[in-house]
Amino acid sequence: MQQILVALFLFIPRALAEFGGGLGSFCQLDQDCITQNSRCNHGICACLPYYATFNNTQCLQSTLLGMPCQTSEQCWQKVANSTCAAGVCRCNKGFLQFRRHTCLIPARVGEVCYSSTHCKMWDPESHCDFLIPKLFGRCTCRDGQSLRDRCQRVSHAPPSPPRNKHRPHSGDALRRGEEAEGPVSLGLSCVTDKQCAAADANSRCRGGICDCVVTNGTCSAAVTGCHKGTFQCRGSGKCISWYLVCDGRSDCPGGEDEQCRETCPRTAFRCARSRPHVCISAGLRCNGSPDCPAGEDEVNCRDIANRGCPRGTYRCKDGSCIGGHEFCNAILTCPDGSDEPEGACNGSGPAHYCPFRCANGRCRSTAIACSGRDGCGDNSDETNCQICRCPKV
Ligand SMILES: *[C@@H]1O[C@H](CO)[C@@H](O)[C@H](O)[C@H]1NC(C)=O
Ligand SMILES: *[C@@H]1O[C@H](CO)[C@@H](O)[C@H](O)[C@H]1NC(C)=O
Ligand SMILES: *[C@@H]1O[C@H](CO)[C@@H](O)[C@H](O)[C@H]1NC(C)=O
Ligand SMILES: *[C@@H]1O[C@H](CO)[C@@H](O)[C@H](O)[C@H]1NC(C)=O
Repeated sequence: MQQILVALFLFIPRALAEFGGGLGSFCQLDQDCITQNSRCNHGICACLPYYATFNNTQCLQSTLLGMPCQTSEQCWQKVANSTCAAGVCRCNKGFLQFRRHTCLIPARVGEVCYSSTHCKMWDPESHCDFLIPKLFGRCTCRDGQSLRDRCQRVSHAPPSPPRNKHRPHSGDALRRGEEAEGPVSLGLSCVTDKQCAAADANSRCRGGICDCVVTNGTCSAAVTGCHKGTFQCRGSGKCISWYLVCDGRSDCPGGEDEQCRETCPRTAFRCARSRPHVCISAGLRCNGSPDCPAGEDEVNCRDIANRGCPRGTYRCKDGSCIGGHEFCNAILTCPDGSDEPEGACNGSGPAHYCPFRCANGRCRSTAIACSGRDGCGDNSDETNCQICRCPKV
C-alpha cells in the first residue's frame, strides 16, 4: 500500500508540485526542503529568517543599505523603510540614510539629529547642533528663533549680530576704530605700531602687517602657529575654524568673524551676485539649499565635466559636490558614500586626499581645526588654536 502511495506521488504532477521540496511545498522535516537557505516552517518550505523569497525559487540573504539586491524584501527585512532600487538597497523617498543600517525620518527643530541634512529635510533653515561631536545633537535654527518645530524665516539680510553675546561696536565702527587703536594680532594688517604692541608687546607694524620685532623661525607674521585655513581673530589672535566664520554667531571675542558685509573674511564664501555683497559660512557651499540672497552658493555643485568641484567643497565619486566639512565626519553624505573612505578616515589605509592629518594619522576636513570640538579623537585639531607669542626682545 505504501509503495502504491509513493508511486502515486512520484507520477502525479499535482502531488509533485505540493511535495517537491521547493518553496511553498509541503514538508515534515527541514531536509524535505531543497531550496538553499530554506527550512520546513509549520509544514511549508520557507526561506530562513533574514532571507527573502525571490522568484519563488530562491532565498536571498537580506542586506544593508548600499549593498546589491534583487528584491526589496532583502532591504526592508534588515532596514525599515528601505527598498531595492536599480539593484542597490536604498532608503525610501523622504528618508535619510544613516550609516548602512538606518533610514531616518526628517528631524524637526528640537528633535535629536545625526547630521544637519537630517534637520534640513524638515526645515532648510535648521541645522544639527551636536551635543556629542559627530554622534548626535538637536536641530536648531541658525539664529535660535523658532516657532514650534519650524525656524522663523528671517529676511535674506546678512546674519544679524548674535543677540546674547556682547559685541562692542557695529561692524564699520569696529573696523575704523581698530585701524586707529584696537589691538591687532600677529600676521594681520595694521596701520600703527601701537595696534600691534597692544596685542603683543614684542610685535610692530611692518609693511602693513604685525610682525615680531625679532623672529626666531618658529614665530612670525608668516608663521603664527595656527592651523592652515583657520581664521585668526584680530584682537585676541585666537584661531577659529573657517566653518564658524560668517555663520551668524560670533566666535571671536570681538565678533570680527561676523563682519560679513562687502569685504569678506578670506575663509568665508562671498555671495558675489547679491547686492549688497554678503558673505556666508563656506560650510554652506553646495549643501543643497540656497543660502546667498541670489543662491550663488549652490551654483556649479555638480562636477560633470570632471574639472573639479568648487574650492573648499568635496567631490563625491559620482561627481556631486558637497560641503568640504562633510569629509570623514562619520556621516555618509555623498550619494555613493565616497566622503567616508574608511582607510583614510580611521588612519589605517592610504589617503589620496587628506586635507587635515590628525596626530593619530586620521584624515579630516580642515573645518575641524579649532572648531572647539575634538574632531580627531586625540584632540590634535584643538591644539595650536592660539597664536604664538613673539620672542622677547
Ligand atoms: C524564476 O523561476 C523560473 C521557474 O519558476 C525559472 O525558470 C527562472 O530561471 C527563474 N529566474 C531567476 C532569475 O532565477
Ligand atoms: C517605516 O517603517 C516602519 C517599520 O517597518 C513602519 O512601521 C512605517 O510605517 C514606515 N513608514 C513609512 C512612512 O513608510
Ligand atoms: C579601519 O577600517 C578598516 C576598513 O573597515 C578596518 O579594516 C580597520 O581595522 C580599521 N582600523 C582601525 C584602526 O579602526
Ligand atoms: C621662538 O620663540 C617662541 C616664543 O618665545 C618659543 O616658544 C620658541 O621655542 C622659540 N623657538 C626657538 C627655535 O628658539
